[in-house]
Order: sequence, then C-alpha cells, then structure tokens
Amino acid sequence: MPTKRQVLGDFYYREAKKRGFRSRSALKLLELARRYRIFNEGDCVVDLGAAPGGWLQVARDFVGSKGKVIGVDLSEIEPLPFENVHLIKGDIFDPSIIKQIIELVGGPVDVVLSDLAPKFSGIHDLDHARQIELARSALTISKTIIRQGGKMVIKLIMGSEFDQFLKDVRQMFQSVSLYKPKASRERSSEIYLICKGWKGSFGKDLETFQNNRNISN
Ligand SMILES: C[S@@+](CC[C@H](N)C(=O)[O-])C[C@H]1O[C@@H](n2cnc3c(N)ncnc32)[C@H](O)[C@@H]1O
Repeated sequence: MPTKRQVLGDFYYREAKKRGFRSRSALKLLELARRYRIFNEGDCVVDLGAAPGGWLQVARDFVGSKGKVIGVDLSEIEPLPFENVHLIKGDIFDPSIIKQIIELVGGPVDVVLSDLAPKFSGIHDLDHARQIELARSALTISKTIIRQGGKMVIKLIMGSEFDQFLKDVRQMFQSVSLYKPKASRERSSEIYLICKGWKGSFGKDLETFQNNRNISN
C-alpha cells in the first residue's frame, strides 16, 4: 500500500504538469516562497542550477515584468517567453560565470536560489559531499553578487557535513530556517535552507573579484 507521501508525490507530479511548470520542483519553490515570503515584485533573482526552468517560471511570476531573473545551468534551458529572464549555460565552478552574471544584472541581487544537484551515484556519502560542494560554490557566488539584507534558498541533502555547513551559513545571514516542502518525495533526504538578511555588504567581494581579474588579465 502506498504511503501518504507517495500518493502526494504522484499528485504533485500531475499538479506541476497541469499548471504548466517544467518541473515538479517548481511546486516546492512555490510553497517555500509563499511560506517564507522570499520574493518581492521587481526583485532581481539569480537561480543556480536552473534547468529545465521550473524555478525560473515561479521566480518570474513573483517578480513580474519589472524584475529580472537569471538562470544558470550546465544544461541548455529552453528560453522562457519573457524578455527579463536571461539564461547562462555553464559550470558554476567556472569563474567566468560570475562575470557573466554581473554583466546581466548590472547591480546587487536580491535573491539567490540554489537547487543545484550533482548526478547522483546512489552512494549517499559521495552524493552528499558533492551536494555540499555545489552549495558552497553557490555561497561563493552569492558573496560577490548579493545585496546586504538579501535572501538565499539552498537545497541540500542531509549527511555528515550538514551541521558544519549550517553553522557557516548562520554566520552569514541574520536568520536561517530549515524546511522540507510537502512536494519532496518521502524517500528523499533533501532539505531546503531559507536564509534571510545577508550580513555582508555588496561590492566588497566584487571589488576583490575585479581586482583579481585585472591582475590575471
Ligand atoms: C534539480 S535540478 C534543478 C531543477 C530546477 N530548479 C527546476 O525547477 O527546473 C539541478 C540542476 O543542477 C545543475 N547542475 C549541477 N551541477 C552544476 C554545475 N556545476 N554548474 C551548473 N549547473 C549544475 C544540473 O544540470 C541540474 O539541471
């Protein structure tokens, strides 16, 4: 007999399709965004690990035509029918990605999203370590582009490095909440960090980044 969450899992898959979302994950962001008031109209949002584009659809709905949404992924993303949604194909570990983001946003970013996920091997410890590595890289990108007081949503899978990561993130934001959306599969150990109030100031790391680039150019 299927468990309640398995039944719900199928429900969320059908529901995402019915609403025209490109991914089931879109419903997770929708739930998080409503519960934690992640977006404001006109916000500038950077979505790391954005393919096939479900989170981009949700973010664009919230920020509207005055906002800006930038999606980054290793995979090609089919363009969305909005001129304020921009796509970058590339690896977040490639330093030129930050430069491309900065050129597109032209100023501080209000919200950084990371639904980044490695290709899962099925070996939990390995998958967890890779996920943490991706999340740390998302944090590094945030440091350069996010505004003071900005927000971040980070997907993680639970494992041995989780507590240290959480500790580190708590030092960078005024508040960090943990939430497992209803649309998450029961067997999944994924959890989302909702981080609010970036404590750093915009521009400091950007200056360092630009200086380093000038030196290496
Ligand atoms: C769970 S999917 C994202 C789903 C997306 N939020 C949506 O709703 O459509 C995770 C994505 O992370 C991307 N990814 C993994 N490693 C990456 C990297 N190093 N650079 C850029 N994207 C990466 C994968 O290609 C994959 O598309």
